[in-house]
Amino acid sequence: MSKPDIQPLHTDFGARILGVTLSGDMALDTLDFIRQSIEQYSLLCFPEQDMNDEKQLAFTHLLGTPEAEHVRFGRTGEVSYFGTVGNIQDDGTKADTANARYQSGNQLWHSDSSFRETPSFVSILHAYEVPGEGGQTEFASMRAGYARLSDEMREQIEPLHVVHDYVFSRSPIAPVNPNHAASLPPVMHPMVCANPVNGLKNYYIGSHARSIPGWSGIDSRQLLDTLLEHTTAPERILSLAFKPGDTVIWDNRCILHRGTGYDVNRWRRRMRQTRVVGGDKGVIPKPLQE
Ligand code: OGA
Ligand code: MN
Repeated sequence: MSKPDIQPLHTDFGARILGVTLSGDMALDTLDFIRQSIEQYSLLCFPEQDMNDEKQLAFTHLLGTPEAEHVRFGRTGEVSYFGTVGNIQDDGTKADTANARYQSGNQLWHSDSSFRETPSFVSILHAYEVPGEGGQTEFASMRAGYARLSDEMREQIEPLHVVHDYVFSRSPIAPVNPNHAASLPPVMHPMVCANPVNGLKNYYIGSHARSIPGWSGIDSRQLLDTLLEHTTAPERILSLAFKPGDTVIWDNRCILHRGTGYDVNRWRRRMRQTRVVGGDKGVIPKPLQE
């Protein structure tokens, strides 16, 4: 492997990597480099990738087990590994605004699939078409947020668990299809987890975080909101304006993200997303049963 060029994107996390071509057929040392870089930087942007769905899925397999996209699976039972981010449908036409409303749930800070028993390890998002204005994706690090907490606060949150619930987070935006809702009962995760490779800790929250078992609703809300504000202070945010050809990988175990919106009537935005299931490579501590 010729040495890739690593350009940090933010003091807290994130790097642009030049000199790597992503595919389903990559040298082991390059893959190792990517895995280590995920642990270290939490977000990697690979510009100018010549991507297609087949290549993206094959590359996804190299990082672990692809995650079945939950919306289609929940509604129809059909397994598909791609999520479409943006306003373009499979036939290439623009979706109606109801879909845009549905996707506005992505404009709340979240970690992908935190509402699943085994959440996503990484998400892989490739940009094909992007708006001329707006449509950035913002990221913030719960690891960097944890590092900035007082000792007292760290002690307070260490023993806690958090209930994550998709129906809770999405119902205020648009009704969740009943089959989809039934497929996603609330789950519980530890509030604090440690990266299995470097031991760095973070808390694990976001829009799907509903409550803290044993705490009153109002106290739960207050702590979850305080931690979210602490994580996503303006100077802590990395705002990415994707360019067509960018493939971005982020570590959902410690990164929150959100879409920022754009004029869906004016612009086309087409991005394809795959995810890798947590577990042996994702190594999120096993959730307790509620
Ligand atoms: C995602 C996501 C938001 C956006 O890709 O998982 O939440 O609009 N994206 O970029
Ligand atoms: Mn997302």
